[in-house]
Amino acid sequence: MTLQLRVYVPPHPLIKHWLAVARDAATPSVLFRSAMTELGRWLTYEAAREWLPTEETTVQTPLATCAATLINPQIPVAVVPILRAGLGLLEGAQTLLPLASIYHLGLMRDEATLEPMCYLNKLPEKFNPETRVLITDPMLATGGSIMATMAELVHRGVDPSLTRIVCVVAAPAALQKLSAAYPGLIIYSACIDEGLNEHGFIVPGLGDAGDRIFGT
Ligand code: PRP
Repeated sequence: MTLQLRVYVPPHPLIKHWLAVARDAATPSVLFRSAMTELGRWLTYEAAREWLPTEETTVQTPLATCAATLINPQIPVAVVPILRAGLGLLEGAQTLLPLASIYHLGLMRDEATLEPMCYLNKLPEKFNPETRVLITDPMLATGGSIMATMAELVHRGVDPSLTRIVCVVAAPAALQKLSAAYPGLIIYSACIDEGLNEHGFIVPGLGDAGDRIFGT
């Protein structure tokens, strides 16, 4: 079987609603943050399908014994927010993944070269190869930041097929790079946008998510 990058754009009214709120240039910072939290929540909910490890067991109800499925706490789950903007999606993701370890990765695009520069790396030296990793970043633009993140993770033992990316807007340039390098990867995005402008910003996009989240 040939592996292919899969990008899911869940056709959900709550995801569409909060995407519209986030896109609107008139949305103030406080509401933009809410939109990111909600998108983080609902996209993580979708991404958890066939990703979050479960175990089969039995439970005793007040009336009978019955088969049951629980989240398997033995298999590690990690969330990697790409700072700063990935923090906006983290809160919603964390409500669904309360046991996940959070490993912050600080990347900043150089405005001139568009290359990502790493200013904070809290990733462990080595991941358990079974770790389920969820990366959060609202924007995949040129793909430089997400490719640098994937390279760091794989170098530390992460299996790309056990990795999910949660983003809000994805540009074709980033998806092409990910597809070529990590064909087994699965992405959950609120939308795939048309492309990039001459400054490397996603069009129509939602502006600079980091600045809008933090009011800078
Ligand atoms: C934005 C965004 C991504 C990156 C996408 O972050 O949150 O991390 O740019 O661009 P790329 O695909 O071309 O690498 P930015 O560097 O503006 O930092 P911030 O989150 O601190 O605002």
